[in-house]
Amino acid sequence: MRTEELDRLLFPMAPGCMWIKKLNEMDVSLEYVTWLNDPEVTQYLECRHQKHTLESTRSYIRNLTPSYMLFGVYLEYEMIGTCSLNAIDRVNGNAYIGLMIGRKDLWGNGYGTKTINLVTDYAFKRLHLHKVSAAVYSVNPASIKAFEKAGFTCSGYLSENNIYNGRYINAALYEKLNRTGEVLN
Ligand SMILES: CC(C)(COP(=O)(O)OP(=O)(O)OC[C@H]1O[C@@H](n2cnc3c(N)ncnc32)[C@H](O)[C@@H]1OP(=O)(O)O)[C@@H](O)C(=O)NCCC(=O)NCCS
Repeated sequence: MRTEELDRLLFPMAPGCMWIKKLNEMDVSLEYVTWLNDPEVTQYLECRHQKHTLESTRSYIRNLTPSYMLFGVYLEYEMIGTCSLNAIDRVNGNAYIGLMIGRKDLWGNGYGTKTINLVTDYAFKRLHLHKVSAAVYSVNPASIKAFEKAGFTCSGYLSENNIYNGRYINAALYEKLNRTGEVLN
């Protein structure tokens, strides 16, 4: 375990403190697997096309490639969801964000927006990426609202990009640029 993670566990956290950490297979709990199999949580996520178990989820994490980073989202000491940076392109400095607040009872409290801010910060400050994007189902108002509240702008649509309830729907492309990053000419 890295020192930074140990520090978080050893020292008291401020009430309501949120943080993210890279997931490893030992972080996979039955609750996490329940989220992955919950049709309400995953209705706008591609992971809904498979059935998940403790073993399949651990194996998924074991086999992640360097272009895909999966994080646990923590509220104080409790994991309440996950987020990711995927399709990380270090040459062009960009990546896509994914997120899931698995604890449905916590939806609508700003945790989704805060998670987007945390993973964007990680992408810009730790990985020094230039841009993060998210392809959001156009029928997912909570996610669209959360990305807008996190300062992302809609740069267009990927037409008929995903199957939802048996029909093709558009994905809205939300993006944020790292304006503090160095511009290389
Ligand atoms: C999308 C998701 C991350 C949002 O998390 P959250 O913690 O509820 O997000 P926030 O509270 O920061 O913001 C959500 C906003 O959407 C609003 N909202 C929720 N449902 C809505 C609806 N049906 N119509 C309009 N607005 C809606 C909320 O009221 C809130 O806005 P407010 O702060 O002005 O009240 C969460 O619902 C989730 O994990 N869903 C399942 C997985 C998923 O869809 N992930 C996104 C993939 S791109």
